[in-house]
Amino acid sequence: MRHLIDPMDLSVEEINHLLDLADDIILHKEKYQEVCKHKKLATLFFEPSTRTRLSFEAAMMELGGNVLGFSSANSSSASKGESVSDTVRVVSGYADIIAMRHPKEGAPYAAARKLSVPIINAGDGGHNHPTQTLTDLMTIRREKGKLDNLTIGMCGDLKFGRTVHSLIKAMSRYENINFIMISPEELRLPDYIIKDVFEKKNIKYKEVRTMEEVMPELDILYMTRVQKERFFNEADYIRLKDSFILDERKLLDAKEDLCIMHPLPRVNEISTKVDDDPRACYFKQALYGKYVRMALIMTLLGVSADENR
Ligand code: NCD
Repeated sequence: MRHLIDPMDLSVEEINHLLDLADDIILHKEKYQEVCKHKKLATLFFEPSTRTRLSFEAAMMELGGNVLGFSSANSSSASKGESVSDTVRVVSGYADIIAMRHPKEGAPYAAARKLSVPIINAGDGGHNHPTQTLTDLMTIRREKGKLDNLTIGMCGDLKFGRTVHSLIKAMSRYENINFIMISPEELRLPDYIIKDVFEKKNIKYKEVRTMEEVMPELDILYMTRVQKERFFNEADYIRLKDSFILDERKLLDAKEDLCIMHPLPRVNEISTKVDDDPRACYFKQALYGKYVRMALIMTLLGVSADENR
């Protein structure tokens, strides 16, 4: 049984196949509209989400499948004390594939054991978010035409941001990526990622405290929200929440073909005035997320367009 828990569960080759399939889905939507007929996707979201859950559901619907699920822990039996593995085991009798988001790191991994249907990690605490990573890789490949030889700046909450942690791991496998980490001291990238990824693989990286000082170098600027829900105290959140705000003025020194990304939701870390700049890619990015999830669902279910024609 194939699951997707960690972005490294997929080889570079498998990622290329998924991105190729997602590109083909965009070009030939009609070819795919029934490939998952009679299949069901369950979305088990123990933590809030808009894009991830709805894009999974839209993805399954566009493949001709059905969806069921819940969108908060309060509306599931978790509120009665049921364990995640019991919930998932029961749901595996109702659905062919499961997408799960949980505030606890490692929850989807624990749930995947002994499971008879594929499970996709749709975000576990501050840990991983592999389908956002696929979305990000698709955006970079479509916008830049490549996944290597790039300077990528990641800005904001690098401590708690799971999208950043996942994307770093995934990008570390491509040639000549130069990582620049832009955050206040308190929200810097966890040491375990610096050691396990950058140092172990001898990857070029630096940590800086302002985006202005590195703006002209960047091919990609990956902005993130300060993750209020993961702070232990409100005062720290309030002090740090407006640490980095991207506005038009800061973009004056940026490359003309910079690609500005954000997993969304945005709070105020990107001024809405930037939305009209041709370098703003974040709404496109959210749309690509649906197509790459279509490709992933098909792949994990082992269906293809050709056998359905
Ligand atoms: C991100 C997440 O949930 O980790 N959002 C998303 O999935 N698109 C980022 C965030 O919540 O800030």
